[in-house]
Amino acid sequence: MEFNIALIPGDGIGPEIVAGAVTVLKAVEKKFGHKFNFTETYMGGCAIDKYGEPLPQETVDICKSSDSVLLGAVGGPKWDGAPKRPEAGLLGIRKALGLYSNLRPSILKPQLKDASPLKDEKLKNGLDVMVVRELTGGIYFGNREKAEDGSWASDEERYSVEEVKRIGKIAFDTAMLRNKRLVSVDKANVLESSRLWRRTMTELAAEYPEVELSHMYVDNAAMQLAINPAQFDVIVTSNIFGDILSDLSSAIAGSIGMLPSASLGATKCGMYEPIHGSAPDIAGMDIANPIATIVSAAMMLEMSFGLSEEAKAINTAVDKVLDMNYRTADIMSEGMIKTGCKKMAELIAENL
Ligand code: IPM
Ligand code: MG
Repeated sequence: MEFNIALIPGDGIGPEIVAGAVTVLKAVEKKFGHKFNFTETYMGGCAIDKYGEPLPQETVDICKSSDSVLLGAVGGPKWDGAPKRPEAGLLGIRKALGLYSNLRPSILKPQLKDASPLKDEKLKNGLDVMVVRELTGGIYFGNREKAEDGSWASDEERYSVEEVKRIGKIAFDTAMLRNKRLVSVDKANVLESSRLWRRTMTELAAEYPEVELSHMYVDNAAMQLAINPAQFDVIVTSNIFGDILSDLSSAIAGSIGMLPSASLGATKCGMYEPIHGSAPDIAGMDIANPIATIVSAAMMLEMSFGLSEEAKAINTAVDKVLDMNYRTADIMSEGMIKTGCKKMAELIAENL
């Protein structure tokens, strides 16, 4: 089959990790006889440098006319204090493509137990959680205001029932495909928008009698993730709480450098990206971990292209290379073989 893939390498380590994913996708083409047409485009800081805009219209057009988008990362200190921030490009493309649901799986691989900051005793029951984050609403997209004299600023957290319902459906559907346990995370003891969130999730639960829905305040959810991560199956939460909790769940899984994400809307066209940032401090040094981007590409094959066997082959190749003791710096531990970004991608491609 033939697919058009828009590539947005972005800033910092973005170009290296996306190149790594392309190496693996080319191996998939060869092994399974598909054709992937890549179109590379600009977003974030590099787009500000080139066009004066973090999200040029051309980038939106390329993404819209592709079957899916693979993104590296955007941002960096170079653009701190600039009138337009690279991150605005990321938020803009999520909105422009209508990608309201963000799926962030965190799985603790047995090979990486030593890389987790949690003690063995907390990890004995493993970790396999899917954070379903609302991605185009809430405080990220509410009204922003500031006083001209700089004496105050405000950001609005607003959710409509419709917005909560559509992300809730994705979360319940996801739970149905997993262990049928869903925790909705909010701050309903304080926020009106959270009370609407909780009420809407509770109403939706009637349509999913097999799913066991419970509610948790976000502060408690953060604590529970740290003390007993195995209790979670699927978590559904707002844009900002999902941003925070997914960093936490990924750290528990060993390294943020391992974990993928999928952003989807009403169509099959999605955007796939590692959940980590652009790590400008290590950019260009060939030491970044490309695995998060490589497994994001696997998610793309499965969720947008329906190529589950190919996706599985990528994940199996990643496990194989980890079993062979190859590690990038972020997941390095005693006795392992330290491997650069490019080499890691090549090893995964070879072992496909
Ligand atoms: C993420 C990132 C982004 C977000 C930033 C870079 C705008 O942290 O994808 O989690 O907050 O959504
Ligand atoms: Mg984040």
